[in-house]
Amino acid sequence: MKQVSEKRGGFTSSMGFILAATGSAVGLGNLWKFPYLAGKNGGAIFLFIYLAFIFILGIPITLGEMAIGRNTKLNPIGAYQKLNKKYTFIGISGVACAFIILCYYSVIGGWVLKYIASYITNATMDDASAYFQNFIQSSAEPVVWHLLFMAMTCLIVVGGVSQGIEKASKIMLPLLFFFIVVLAIRAIFLPGSAEGIKYFLIPNFAAINSFSDFANILLAAMGQVFFSLSLGMGAMITYGSYLQKGANLQKDSTIIASLDSLFAILAGFAILPAVFAFGYEPTAGPGLIFETLPKVFESMPFGGVFGFIFFVLVFFAAITSSVSLLEVVTSFCIDNFKMKRITASILLSVIMGVIGIFAALSFGPLSNVQLFGNTIFDVMSFISDKLLMPFGAFFMCIFIGHVWGVDAISDEITNQNTIAFKWRKLFGIIMKYIAPAIIFIIFITSFIPTK
Ligand code: TRP
Repeated sequence: MKQVSEKRGGFTSSMGFILAATGSAVGLGNLWKFPYLAGKNGGAIFLFIYLAFIFILGIPITLGEMAIGRNTKLNPIGAYQKLNKKYTFIGISGVACAFIILCYYSVIGGWVLKYIASYITNATMDDASAYFQNFIQSSAEPVVWHLLFMAMTCLIVVGGVSQGIEKASKIMLPLLFFFIVVLAIRAIFLPGSAEGIKYFLIPNFAAINSFSDFANILLAAMGQVFFSLSLGMGAMITYGSYLQKGANLQKDSTIIASLDSLFAILAGFAILPAVFAFGYEPTAGPGLIFETLPKVFESMPFGGVFGFIFFVLVFFAAITSSVSLLEVVTSFCIDNFKMKRITASILLSVIMGVIGIFAALSFGPLSNVQLFGNTIFDVMSFISDKLLMPFGAFFMCIFIGHVWGVDAISDEITNQNTIAFKWRKLFGIIMKYIAPAIIFIIFITSFIPTK
């Protein structure tokens, strides 16, 4: 197989790898999805379950995917094909998952663009809720912004300027970190924020009324761990395939997962206190950050400028993730259907753009098109985070634990026994039994009807 050659890129430093992988992981999942899921699923209870899952599932699975990638030096499908042909379906499910995610990811990316434009034109957002609702319920604007975001993603993938994207994320991540910290501090000091801080940090078990409520929180937290760390779909296999032999996978996977969670938690601190301070409902759903953040900016000196810079950073975080999502699907089409890069990426963007239109409209004109009480947008995010990602992660664990084997993967993780692997035993047990069992049980119980 190919060695890490110049052509395959290869990260020159471990720092470069960590930054690039973190750049892909940190995206709308942390800044937009985590706060609204935490708000919707009981605050602190969600936070603690999420953190537990980061340790039990997130870090080991990240480690597993990176090891598969570095061992095979191939894309997800090629990697499974090489190690064991029968498991190629895991790679294929990952590609399907990336496809679905990007359709709706781009809708939210479009919302971010809209807010950048609003800050440039100094739009009056006195009533932030009304402003947001008017926007998402209209029929043209959300579609146009969504298509613009998709077009930008496509342009970058066609141009292959991913090098530039990586450099951009090196500047963007620290800046974003700084801005969220400032924002979180501002939010915490808003009058009336205490309730929000409590909501986020002190579990309120009264919010859980039934077993199925609890199962749903578990499912949401698990889905979010996968979504945020880009797991279960081979993204980390791809990243791992660019890694040098000497790298310490254990350290890298822990750092990436920790940084990713840090961004999510900070976003929670920037948003939940503000939700309570301004009297919004934490359960508002996908619009949460778009309704509350403008209020926080308004309460700050130079809030308009701050808001503009902040949404630009969110945009960068989002586009670095959407580019890698499109890249997953594009490289699949290039390899399997022998398409040209430009044809594949444009064709795919058009298809996803069109499907995404339905997701974009599902907050307004198409809000009554529902499946079991869920809008088109909800259904798409359900299929990706709660079906395909757990599916991919489940079989990856089975594959590592029972097919490829803990010995083989430990060899890769320890660089052929040149570094220690203190957690080897635990890692083996998690891969073989604990992770598949947790994923399976949560998956099944969430379908048990209420009470
Ligand atoms: N982790 C990204 C986020 O938090 C979203 C994502 C999911 C992703 N799967 C991915 C990004 C695969 C890149 C590749 O926003």
